Amino acid sequence: MQKKIVIIGASGAIGRAFVDLYSKIDTVEDIFSFSKTQIGFSSSKVKSFPIDIEDEVSIKSAAEVIGNQKIDIVIVATGILHNKDFGPEKSIKDLDSDNFLKVLKINTVGPAIIGKYFLPLLTKDQKSVVAFLSARVGSISENKLGGWYSYRASKTALNQVIKNFSIEVSRTNPNAVILGLQPGTVESNLSEPFKKNVAREKLFTPEYSAEMLAKVILDSTQGNSGDLLSWDGETINP
Ligand SMILES: NC(=O)c1ccc[n+]([C@@H]2O[C@H](COP(=O)([O-])OP(=O)(O)OC[C@H]3O[C@@H](n4cnc5c(N)ncnc54)[C@H](OP(=O)(O)O)[C@@H]3O)[C@@H](O)[C@H]2O)c1
Repeated sequence: MQKKIVIIGASGAIGRAFVDLYSKIDTVEDIFSFSKTQIGFSSSKVKSFPIDIEDEVSIKSAAEVIGNQKIDIVIVATGILHNKDFGPEKSIKDLDSDNFLKVLKINTVGPAIIGKYFLPLLTKDQKSVVAFLSARVGSISENKLGGWYSYRASKTALNQVIKNFSIEVSRTNPNAVILGLQPGTVESNLSEPFKKNVAREKLFTPEYSAEMLAKVILDSTQGNSGDLLSWDGETINP
């Protein structure tokens, strides 16, 4: 099941760790790596291409690179929590429509459009997996703290998109498994401003998180399709 792999967001901490991990697996033949910032990988299995997930034309062009090759695993590791202009909202008064829309565009709309162009590329004769990096904070039932309005809402909406994908794709490709993944708290640009609040043993390296998530992907079944799974295999309630 692990021959042709697509990683979108390969310039991020977790995306890059996935590329490195799959490069070392013997059965993997090709890794199509897409990122906004262009980066190089040493493995000859990796072919790197540009993508801007805020631009549908760019996503469509990225999918066209694959041609008629059939893909076994797609991992979408893009995301935003903060940038140089804004951070996650601590309070209602921090809500800003432009910032909110930016977060939705990257965390929800981009992954949905990726689904539009990449789901048709999946292999049909055996299990395939499309995994979107989501977040536990998108769970409404687990929300006890509040705050982070746009990030939480964008991931809640992403989880709904994932569920929808799983229902529709099962009609034409019953071997496809569509997952949301919670990577744990992982050292990255995204988590940098918040890592001081996290106990050392709970802050994962990107390599450890990718290794655990790759196992979740490998062990997943049709019964998991549409679910949000944690790095340790736990199913997170919506
Ligand atoms: N780190 C954590 O603790 C944690 C916890 C829960 C969930 N997650 C989720 O895990 C995923 C990966 O996060 P990370 O920690 O690896 O963060 P990261 O290192 O900041 O990576 C984020 C990636 O998103 C890409 N990206 C942002 N906007 C883009 C755009 N318009 N087009 C293409 N790529 C774009 C970035 O590309 P450029 O750098 O090239 O712009 C970068 O590759 C995210 O979905 C995040 O929400 C992370």
